[in-house]
Amino acid sequence: MALNTVLILGGSGFVGRALCETLVDRWVAGPRLRVPTRRLSHAQALLPLPLVDVLPADVHDDATLDRLVAGCDAVVNLVAILQGSEAAFEAVHVTLPRRLAAACQRQGVRRLIHVSALGADPQGPSRYLRSKGRGEAVLREADLDLTLLRPSVIFGAGDRLLNLFAQLQALFPVLPLAGANARFQPVWVADVAAAIATCLERPATAGQTFECAGPEEATLAQLVRLAGEASGHPRPILPLPAPLATLQAWLMELAPGEPLMSRDNLASMTVPNVATGQLPGLAALGITPTPLLAVVPGYLRPGQRCARLDAWRARHR
Ligand SMILES: NC(=O)c1ccc[n+]([C@@H]2O[C@H](COP(=O)([O-])OP(=O)(O)OC[C@H]3O[C@@H](n4cnc5c(N)ncnc54)[C@H](OP(=O)(O)O)[C@@H]3O)[C@@H](O)[C@H]2O)c1
Repeated sequence: MALNTVLILGGSGFVGRALCETLVDRWVAGPRLRVPTRRLSHAQALLPLPLVDVLPADVHDDATLDRLVAGCDAVVNLVAILQGSEAAFEAVHVTLPRRLAAACQRQGVRRLIHVSALGADPQGPSRYLRSKGRGEAVLREADLDLTLLRPSVIFGAGDRLLNLFAQLQALFPVLPLAGANARFQPVWVADVAAAIATCLERPATAGQTFECAGPEEATLAQLVRLAGEASGHPRPILPLPAPLATLQAWLMELAPGEPLMSRDNLASMTVPNVATGQLPGLAALGITPTPLLAVVPGYLRPGQRCARLDAWRARHR
């Protein structure tokens, strides 16, 4: 089916920006992209892109959701939070997908691509993973042409994880690290965007779940070391034993603003964030995952914070 309009919830975020760039690049004169945002200032990066309509909207309001979904050929859901109360996780990861599915059904839109996370499981060890798992279940129950994507931690210009650890190492002489042995299989944001774009282009991916993981596994300590080296501030890493890690996370939760690390994040890290291999991965979508070293030095090196380099490196890997 030809795509004329695609709604991208959460399109102003880290993955959403990469997705919009990918779609605009791939489809040139392709469908219009409808991107709601709670605040226009969150979507500044999208404003110059052709074909992208940024709309201030409250996606938690049914009438607004109906208006956003109406006339679309497909919907991508990228809305998520990393920190919050049980109620906040429920509202964003479970209730919103349920209401989105209902809006799709009311408006006759069948195609939905939902980005979840590796380890999503209603019985998982953290609020984040449990709510992600319940969100998946809610959508599977809906009568929609659904594709689920489960990424590992995502890296790329503007990522949260590696940029944070690069900044911390620029500030402190030693890095006390919680969850140092937690395992990840980091995936490049452009590869995740390409996976979503391919799913949009291939209706036959409906009914499937894809694991989005990179070509290499790394512990958190190895990722922190990479961030330090790439940014020019390698510092000694001090792995924290579990009780001290919990204390550190608890103290961070007490600080104002969104915590850098919470006890819930620590709980998520008890599950290896790596592909199970029991589900199709990026290769099934024709994507060769990009290694960390092909991209990370390009955006963490001081003065090299240019997203375009990511794309250049991938092309000339
Ligand atoms: N980044 C990773 O390493 C990673 C790893 C695994 C899975 N994922 C998944 O990939 C997807 C995209 O992640 P991301 O890193 O792009 O996230 P992000 O940068 O935090 O963006 C999330 C988007 O959701 C919207 N949003 C956040 N809280 C909201 C709320 N309470 N109500 C309505 N909208 C809200 C924000 O839009 P506005 O602020 O403009 O309204 C923002 O554009 C998510 O499902 C995430 O769980 C990400």
